[in-house]
Amino acid sequence: MFNSTIVSKFNSIPTPFYYYDMDVLKQTLNLLKKESDKYGFIVHYATKANANNKILDIIRSYGLGADCVSGNEIKKAIECKFNPNHIVFAGVGKSDVEINIALDHSIFCFNCESLQEMEVINELAKAKGTTASIALRINPNVNANTHKYITTGLEENKFGINLWELDNVIAALKDLKNLKLIGLHFHIGSQITDINSFKTLCMRVNEIQSWFVSHKITIENINVGGGWGVDYHEPDKNRYLDFAAYFKLYNDFLELRPGQKVHFELGRAVVAQCGTLISRVLYIKKGVNTNFAILDAGMTELMRPALYQAYHKIENLSKYQVASIKSQDSAVSELPTTDSLLIKYDVVGPICESSDCFGKAVNLPETFRGDIIALRTAGAYGEVMSSAYNLRDRVKSVYSDEI
Ligand code: LLP
Repeated sequence: MFNSTIVSKFNSIPTPFYYYDMDVLKQTLNLLKKESDKYGFIVHYATKANANNKILDIIRSYGLGADCVSGNEIKKAIECKFNPNHIVFAGVGKSDVEINIALDHSIFCFNCESLQEMEVINELAKAKGTTASIALRINPNVNANTHKYITTGLEENKFGINLWELDNVIAALKDLKNLKLIGLHFHIGSQITDINSFKTLCMRVNEIQSWFVSHKITIENINVGGGWGVDYHEPDKNRYLDFAAYFKLYNDFLELRPGQKVHFELGRAVVAQCGTLISRVLYIKKGVNTNFAILDAGMTELMRPALYQAYHKIENLSKYQVASIKSQDSAVSELPTTDSLLIKYDVVGPICESSDCFGKAVNLPETFRGDIIALRTAGAYGEVMSSAYNLRDRVKSVYSDEI
């Protein structure tokens, strides 16, 4: 992904910034499209993972729809020319203003999470003299085996309608004349790397579908959500996910009724590997038992380690650059580094919080003030979750095709 030419360009750009490799993004989309098209599956990109205009434009150009979780995401998707008929709107707490935005754009579907929300959407649609298409987000009670903050498909989570509520909801729907039930929606969590969790989801969906069939309710669309995880440890070796295996699993295990369409809402799987947070070392400091490498990027730019103890691979690109020039400009990621040359650093940010730490006892070549440090696999839930805490400047983005 990195070579000495790119790293020397980074030297003249103020840090910190997000660097997006557009070739990686496009190749990911090529693979995703090729494999999902085999089965006629429809993929809505989960805008929340990365909502940069340039990234959204490319994703839209590959024919994906948009999965939005706020009125502003809907507006952004429309601004980036996503077809409203390919926009789904999820979220456990949609405000009246946001519902009205979605109604005004006649989006494809509201993924509804409670009866009360359905009543409000019905009311607002009625006031506009329109009908809203809805899917019921059902909590399938499937354990996604992921971090507790990003698991969503268990009854103890706030998301979705529980199975024991279905009778009530269906009975109530009869009186909600401005709603049209067009689908069922599921989403069991995020950063799920055990593909068997999706197989379990398929089995649950099949059971739940039988319930609807036995109640003579036709469902046109099955939306299985997103959640597929990426390899944070080996971003070069596993840069591209096995989209063939992922979509085949759904094709093999979902029992579809005639004419039913399958929808996905992938976010991380699309954008994680194309993004890297680039920062510089401000200071090297000796601690009692460790060395600190203090970066000019912190939890304000990349919050995932502080919030979920998430791992992002940390690389010193300056070291590799010097070495790669010596070794005839070979690609940075191919450079050998032996353990004996490595020193342990706690890699931390500048923010006044002890949780502002990207990694403890990280093995790096000897590192100095001014070195360029890469935090890999940061394209999803990186820039979008950045903040201005400590009144810091908002982080910038740099695209591989613009430098
Ligand atoms: N659909 C729904 C209803 C969702 O809630 C989410 C993510 C997605 C789709 C997309 O999931 P993905 O394919 O990206 O896993 N900030 C956390 C991740 C939160 C995910 C929230 N929901 C992180 O940094 O890991």
